[in-house]
Amino acid sequence: MSQFESVQQQLRGHKYHWLVTGAAGFIGSNLLEQLLLLGQRVTGLDNFATGFADNLELVRERVGAQAWANFRFIEGDIRLAADCARACQGVDYVLHEAALGSVSRSIEDPIATHETNVTGFLHMLVAARDAKVKRFVYAASSSTYGDHPALPKVEPQIGHPLSPYAVTKYADELYAEVFARCYGVESIGLRYFNVFGPRQDPKGAYAAVIPQWVAALINDDTVHINGDGESSRDFCYIDNVVQANLLAALSGNAEAVNQVYNVALNERTTLNELHQMMCRLLAERFPHVHEHRPQHRAFRAGDVRHSQADISKARTLLGYAPTHRLSEGLREAMDWYVRRLAPAHSR
Ligand SMILES: NC(=O)c1ccc[n+]([C@@H]2O[C@H](COP(=O)([O-])OP(=O)(O)OC[C@H]3O[C@@H](n4cnc5c(N)ncnc54)[C@H](O)[C@@H]3O)[C@@H](O)[C@H]2O)c1
Repeated sequence: MSQFESVQQQLRGHKYHWLVTGAAGFIGSNLLEQLLLLGQRVTGLDNFATGFADNLELVRERVGAQAWANFRFIEGDIRLAADCARACQGVDYVLHEAALGSVSRSIEDPIATHETNVTGFLHMLVAARDAKVKRFVYAASSSTYGDHPALPKVEPQIGHPLSPYAVTKYADELYAEVFARCYGVESIGLRYFNVFGPRQDPKGAYAAVIPQWVAALINDDTVHINGDGESSRDFCYIDNVVQANLLAALSGNAEAVNQVYNVALNERTTLNELHQMMCRLLAERFPHVHEHRPQHRAFRAGDVRHSQADISKARTLLGYAPTHRLSEGLREAMDWYVRRLAPAHSR
């Protein structure tokens, strides 16, 4: 039995109380879904800054009325200490996902990113400490590697940050480390690398590349590739991220706690390759995609050139074993986007 199967079995036999911040967002709503399906009690906290009530509604439909009865939603803001304290009451495990994502957004408005990602994070740590939660698992980021040239990325070797967003995510790691030292708050940081999957928002100026491109390809709009398309990423399907979170929360390995981990696949795909893979998958259903040619434009400020995770630390200490490679994840994500975005006659 894999470590993840054993954690799932453990959860089916015991109902804990979880707090998922950012529960109306992409990653948060997927964590919420998995926890409710495992019979857990969950509190969700979100202010809908970038999340959607519709994501919660989709989870409700997926899990059914009985599991949904174990969910309590607080519309609140992590920048407010009182909201964090209320949300942490009686909670065993915190999965802290709420943040303002996007490197570009942080370059345009560093104050807003700081307030949510650092001040809000600190409020959450204080609330988790005061509520004596068992563990605080939080969304860190591959952006913390900054300009360090080594590939694949190993956790202790980080460079200088390339954006305000990267600074906030690194500051979070430092705060978590200090809260372990000063107050004994157990935490685990998960450095996600380009996560994708159902419920990731395809719209808006700060949309992530995969959902943005799916929407454009389905609707026969222009796909923009920033730069020459030879920049590369370690794209990670959401199921792998959900797995990492549950393993991190429940790990009984003392060495695994108060650490940060890469969460991805240790695979590198260029944007040009990604575009080709997506076109191949979608052309099965949308013949116009055969003819599709992307438009290249300038590189984006703050973006790193290459990214690839060494995942041996998560494998060894947490028992992380990704279940979805890029092609498998893309197929599942495409199915979902086609059902949501395509006109009824072409699904
Ligand atoms: N998606 C990725 O590829 C990726 C990569 C690295 C790190 N991360 C991190 O993972 C986490 C989740 O990202 P996501 O992709 O699901 O983004 P998302 O925007 O879909 O989810 C973030 C959620 O946090 C909520 N939120 C924002 N500010 C808040 C506030 N002040 N108070 C309460 N709620 C607030 C938003 O409304 C949203 O629902 C974030 O911390 C992000 O920085 C994501």
